[in-house]
Amino acid sequence: MFQNWYIACTSRELNQKPIARTVLGIPLAIFRGIDGKPSAFLDKCPHRNIPLSKGWVKNNYLICKYHGWCFDEQGICREIPGLCNWNEDRNRNAVAYPVLEQDGFIWVYCKADELPKSQPYEFPCLKQKGFSTFTKQMECKTTLENAAENFLDATHTHFVHSGLIRTDNQRKEITVKITRSENMVEAVYLNEETISGLIYKLLAPGCKKVISIGRFILPSIAQLEYCTDCDRDQLFISLFLTPVKENLIRAYSIVTFRSWLPDWFLKAIAKPLFSFATRQDKAILQLQTWNINRFQGEKFVLTEIDVIRPHLLYLLKQGEKLNEPSVFEKIIKMKV
Ligand code: FES
Ligand SMILES: [Fe+2]
Repeated sequence: MFQNWYIACTSRELNQKPIARTVLGIPLAIFRGIDGKPSAFLDKCPHRNIPLSKGWVKNNYLICKYHGWCFDEQGICREIPGLCNWNEDRNRNAVAYPVLEQDGFIWVYCKADELPKSQPYEFPCLKQKGFSTFTKQMECKTTLENAAENFLDATHTHFVHSGLIRTDNQRKEITVKITRSENMVEAVYLNEETISGLIYKLLAPGCKKVISIGRFILPSIAQLEYCTDCDRDQLFISLFLTPVKENLIRAYSIVTFRSWLPDWFLKAIAKPLFSFATRQDKAILQLQTWNINRFQGEKFVLTEIDVIRPHLLYLLKQGEKLNEPSVFEKIIKMKV
């Protein structure tokens, strides 16, 4: 989990005032130097352990607010006010994490002092002509597994988003193809044709055929893709789930779409509906967490139509050498 890039905040949230963010349980101080480049340090001054996020930026240095130690963008201590005999000592340096800015987000690689082995995830069609995007973020008291499963699970939509996404009394049998590879599991809903809820009727009127795909991509991306028979229509809803600490995630939603409907109309309709659905999911997930805590731990029952969870767990626990082949493919029937 740690040898990956995670979204720590949006580009807009970060200026020269350091901010405190926790990613995978690691408290971080994130800031921009005068040159605009982001840096991320462990939020602890090596001297007397004051949070560096309470300090300030001077030129490209971060200054600790207690005794004014100055750290450059790589965390190297460059100045200790009052110290006459300067000598290099690595113990005086702040712990720095690899950081970069991409697609309007500040990404942190959660292994300090290590050369990253990968690149941050690139959201589909974000930079492609003809597509529009809006983003949103939200904190939710839940786990990565439960949040990703919720987002990708078609069977809760009839109840939690009743009428909005699907309707319970309009179910039909469909085929789902599940494929798992090294770093991703994908469920393709093959012959759903029309989706019963209001969102679909508003956003894709007159389209007879829709193919929806749910994906979980390592380290923590849940993604829905919809395409219709109306040539131009395509929609990606990607959720980057940054684990903050135990039972807390910060979800960054990136909604990218191309449609024959005008952009302003889609944003005016889609944004509030999306926020509404997000609040419904947050409420059910926090209720789940509350009850799991009340009963001192999860005890779940799986059925064949819980198509994502076993594979999501497999991918997340890959490091633990499960005795299963890494590639998996299966076709099942379900009613949605
Ligand atoms: S605690 Fe940071 S300079 Fe002393
Ligand atoms: Fe949902």
